[in-house]
Amino acid sequence: MQTEKAQPILNVRNLNIWYGEKHILRDLSFEVQHRKVTAFIGPTNSGKSTLVRCLNRLNDFTPHFRSTGDILFRGVAMGAASDATALRKQIGMVFRKPVPFRCSIYENVAYGARISGINQSAHLDTIVEKNLQRTGLWDEVENILDEMPERLSIGHQQLLCIARALAIEPEILIFDEPCGELDPIETVKIETLVRELTNDYTLIFATNKRRQAARVSDVAGFLYCGELVEFGATDKIFTNPQDNRTEQYVTGRLG
Ligand SMILES: Nc1ncnc2c1ncn2[C@@H]1O[C@H](COP(=O)(O)OP(=O)(O)OP(=O)(O)O)[C@@H](O)[C@H]1O
Ligand SMILES: [Mg+2]
Repeated sequence: MQTEKAQPILNVRNLNIWYGEKHILRDLSFEVQHRKVTAFIGPTNSGKSTLVRCLNRLNDFTPHFRSTGDILFRGVAMGAASDATALRKQIGMVFRKPVPFRCSIYENVAYGARISGINQSAHLDTIVEKNLQRTGLWDEVENILDEMPERLSIGHQQLLCIARALAIEPEILIFDEPCGELDPIETVKIETLVRELTNDYTLIFATNKRRQAARVSDVAGFLYCGELVEFGATDKIFTNPQDNRTEQYVTGRLG
């Protein structure tokens, strides 16, 4: 019988971020649970991207960036002394604008496997097919694998970027406004995929589309002016928020 309480995969404690003198994130503390979608919502400039970029240390080289507090991944601090490259293999990222590499569709997905030392072509073929299948792109591209990604629609380029990220076999995948450039049909595809991926991955999802967060997430955090105003089960955040600002935001009266 399993009685142990699930340990969070990420534990953020008293995180503060500054760019120069500007205090961007203010004393954030929260936990991210395995195989759930955790969404961060909030108006533009509330700090969503700044936060999710910290979670795989993408801000390390941002000029004038400074932080205090701790981010623990599986209980281990991901501070400056840890290996950021190794961390990014475990925590992948998908951005608003799909940026496929300047190589074939096949090589975009094979890249992750190659950097892990896999170069046997039959093995690479399996990995490429598996990850394109996972994102629902395989049927579209199986006959054009040697072509460049630019011939794909923007939505399909985004799916390719997700397949590329999955091929690295991360534990966590972070999405920062992944549908920002997409039309409604492409957006539905990405939202459906995000839900499916919770079978195998932990997902973190930043968006300023409230209804999208309500559709895709299990847990949601509302960021406002760098403060994590409220964090908890998505249905509670959207139907029974505790803070007046959250209530105003989710009902469209703020931001
Ligand atoms: N590299 C940077 N240098 C200085 N200030 C920055 C930098 N990146 C972001 N900021 C500032 O940090 C604040 C939070 O920005 P951030 O991009 O995290 O917000 P956001 O919630 O993701 O907004 P959006 O919904 O528009 O994507 C803003 O005031 C922004 O101007
Ligand atoms: Mg952003």
